[in-house]
Amino acid sequence: MMIEDGEDIIGESQVMEDLRRLIKETAASPARILITGESGTGKELIAHTIHRFSPRAGFPFVVINCAAIPDTLIESELFGYRKGAFTDAVSDHRGKFEAANHGTLFLDEVGDLSKSAQAKLLRAIQEKKIEPLGCEEGISVDVRILASTNKNLAAACAAGRFREDLFYRLNVIPMGIPPLRERRGDIPPLFRHFLSVLKADVDLAPDGEAFLSSYKWPGNIRELRNLAERCLVQVPPGGKLGEKVLRTLLLEKAVPGIPEEKKRILDLRNALEKGYNEAKELFEQQYLRYQMEKHGGSVSKTASAAGLTPVSLRAKLEKYQIQ
Ligand SMILES: Nc1ncnc2c1ncn2[C@@H]1O[C@H](COP(=O)(O)OP(=O)(O)OP(=O)(O)O)[C@@H](O)[C@H]1O
Ligand SMILES: [Mg+2]
Repeated sequence: MMIEDGEDIIGESQVMEDLRRLIKETAASPARILITGESGTGKELIAHTIHRFSPRAGFPFVVINCAAIPDTLIESELFGYRKGAFTDAVSDHRGKFEAANHGTLFLDEVGDLSKSAQAKLLRAIQEKKIEPLGCEEGISVDVRILASTNKNLAAACAAGRFREDLFYRLNVIPMGIPPLRERRGDIPPLFRHFLSVLKADVDLAPDGEAFLSSYKWPGNIRELRNLAERCLVQVPPGGKLGEKVLRTLLLEKAVPGIPEEKKRILDLRNALEKGYNEAKELFEQQYLRYQMEKHGGSVSKTASAAGLTPVSLRAKLEKYQIQ
């Protein structure tokens, strides 16, 4: 499934064919979709693809990572607030619902929402209206909701951790992505795809291919992509990727101090080839990661070093899902 800027869903296995068909069939409808799958299986990529095949493609695709935002902030992140709603509310803050108006809101890791946030989300869905803090009338929003989880939400409902009524609202169309180890035929084409995207001048040897196909891939496609990146950095041009090299590179990721710096430079170099906006975002991401690492993950120290307010730094960290 190719889309203009090259963000394609690779995989010839029957399950991926079925998934592609389901995406095409459901993208046009306003139905909510719950995407389930282990970490790194492509949940966000699929959510984005659904949006891009939908009539909402010309409007924003907004992601909120429910697992990364502290409980106390999630409601203001989702619904926003008005100036003066509380002491620190020095200006209006648009929530994700408003930001996604006419577009798609992707609730990533929705299973991590608190009970109180679940209740508010349910109300917003039912009434198609949100109430930013300090705004009593509420405002109408037109948002299609896609959600994802790597947990078993039905089990969370049974255990009382997730509202059943919300679960049924979100799970109108269930979309399950199987782990990579259950569709091993997809591994070599995916790996070759990543090598070619990275313009890596290396060749997969037959025993390398056999090794990749038999490995368990606990981190799924994300782990496979990371391996391709490591091949680019560590294997000289024209090199052959046999089992031995690949095994070493796979194990190496566990060792601290592998070439983060090289990866960073590589990312920045790749950014030079992108459009202005994408390049700017790639730089911003690398910059924030670097500064956060340098300041031991402290938001206040990083903010003051970067000349940002903690609030705006937090918003950026959340945007790029940097912890
Ligand atoms: N079928 C696919 N074809 C090509 N690339 C893919 C495919 N599935 C996933 N990817 C790539 O793998 C990486 C991980 O995908 P994504 O972030 O969508 O996974 P996720 O399920 O949201 O992971 P997590 O649970 O860790 O958030 C991304 O770089 C994505 O572009
Ligand atoms: Mg994700």
